[in-house]
Amino acid sequence: MIILGIETSCDETAAAIVNSNHEILSESIHSQIKIHEKYLGVVPELAARSHVDYCDKVVSKVLAEANLSIFDLDAVAATAGPGLIGGLLVGLTTAKAIALAANKPFLAINHLDAHALMPRFINKLDFPYMLLLISGGHSMFLSVEAPGKYQVLGKSIDDALGEAFDKTGRLLGLGYPGGPAIEKISVNGQYNKFNFPQPLKGRKNCDFSFSGLKTSVRQLTEKLSPLSDQDRADIASSFQHTICKIIEERTEKAINKFNKIHPHSRIMAASGGVASNKKIKEVLNKIAKKYNFDLLIPPAKLCTDNGTMIAWAGIEHKKIGYESNFNFDAKARWPLGAKCYEI
Ligand code: KG4
Ligand code: ZN
Repeated sequence: MIILGIETSCDETAAAIVNSNHEILSESIHSQIKIHEKYLGVVPELAARSHVDYCDKVVSKVLAEANLSIFDLDAVAATAGPGLIGGLLVGLTTAKAIALAANKPFLAINHLDAHALMPRFINKLDFPYMLLLISGGHSMFLSVEAPGKYQVLGKSIDDALGEAFDKTGRLLGLGYPGGPAIEKISVNGQYNKFNFPQPLKGRKNCDFSFSGLKTSVRQLTEKLSPLSDQDRADIASSFQHTICKIIEERTEKAINKFNKIHPHSRIMAASGGVASNKKIKEVLNKIAKKYNFDLLIPPAKLCTDNGTMIAWAGIEHKKIGYESNFNFDAKARWPLGAKCYEI
């Protein structure tokens, strides 16, 4: 089975062609970072216009690189939500148009579903598995039971983890996106220079909270202002270290909860942009070893937004008989597991 996937939910215009043998036949991504960095965040209207400019280009590129025409595809998949509505409409309309022209099925994909299924693309792992999904818009522990079928074990009660990285990056004058920039300058800093709070520490559940941490970073930057490069590196390093401690403590709680539901599964995975952070990977590795879990994290370029994850989610859903109606609308909000399609 060969599927074209299109991703336009935020600030990357991406497409890929993937087959059911877990192979990427071609992939292309156009990042909008240059457009948004001067605004220190994504401007939805500019994002939508850039998707209009580049969507057909990335799609033509992946078809040419894979040496395929639209008639060789088995289906066309696109992110239908959650995300910025203008961008979603561009990818969704493009996918529908190609599918209609080639007389192929169309699949509307949930972006979170696609992040959650990505570990199955890199390794042929069975359901169920525990997943830490950490991206710019979401932070949650999931029990992944089947494509489109999840139990939420815990989630952030305020900011998403990527958002916390981005806001801290902004406070440190590092531009957008903050996550990779914080990771980069952290290597020059002292991780125990500043003590930041660990919200929800000790709570029985496995929810997250990051807004108190962000406030604490803001107060410190105001106190130390103007910041030297060394201050920035020390704050970044201490912030990243605190995040790692939070993840360690919260993941142990999540494992307990997951074990109660699925006592025989010993697979833990992580995905979403923040899962590409090396220190976070290290801490997850440590916990996985302690609890005798296998840990699976896709390579960085498949953790951040990409077309392959949409094509792969399309394959996963098509295999179990899912196809979408052509009148399926883009959804700015689309909770995981919400029944939005017929199987
Ligand atoms: O999954 P993703 O590409 O897009 C969403 O679905 O949101 O995640 C983007 C988020 C941004 O907040 C970005 O700052 C964060 O992932 N991120 C990182 C790293 N790379 C990307 N955060 C920490 N360390 C990184 N290396
Ligand atoms: Zn994402």
